[in-house]
Amino acid sequence: MENLTIIDHPLIQHKLTEMRKKSTSSNHFRTLLKEISLLLAYEITRNLPMTEISIETPMEQFNSPTLDGKKLALISILRAGNGLLDGILDLIPSARVGFVGLYRNEETLEPVEYYSKVPSELSSRVSIVVDPMLATGNSAVHAVDTLVSHGASIENIKFMALVAAPEGVEKLLSKHPKIEIFVAALDEKLNDHAYIVPGLGDAGDRLFGTK
Ligand code: URA
Repeated sequence: MENLTIIDHPLIQHKLTEMRKKSTSSNHFRTLLKEISLLLAYEITRNLPMTEISIETPMEQFNSPTLDGKKLALISILRAGNGLLDGILDLIPSARVGFVGLYRNEETLEPVEYYSKVPSELSSRVSIVVDPMLATGNSAVHAVDTLVSHGASIENIKFMALVAAPEGVEKLLSKHPKIEIFVAALDEKLNDHAYIVPGLGDAGDRLFGTK
């Protein structure tokens, strides 16, 4: 699928396998998700705009590459998105952070927003929306729509997930064909309850030890 990048680095795949096991504890699940988020972030930020600044090394004056433009915006879809957010923030501590709080109406499967707060000046930032599970795609579309309504341009929005279902990828790309999606795995399908299979269960519950 165009605009979908599956990051199949061996370390990511190994850690994801550990996360999928139902015997993996919440503590270990959280640690693994944070580690994977660092590795995914490394790949997602590969094409960030760069510029050069003049610096003085102990040896001489030198034009050296540095990130260009405004600070990145990291947007976490609550609550499971926070499991990915922590790792990226370790890597890019100066990023601005926003939250879109959504829960799923279990009958309609539509997202219901209960909170949102996003950084200012989104029109001139690259935004990365994070949510471990891209399932139906409804929450992803809602979060991206929220950013666009705050001035972000779709070319500057990237979506990062751990596991995606084909249905979710198709939904997000059908609404926002220009968005770039990065995932560690594209699973088989959604089940009747809109959970990803084989998947890893409910990412929020597994992260935070709830049921
Ligand atoms: N959300 C999850 O946490 N897991 C799924 O499989 C689908 C949605």
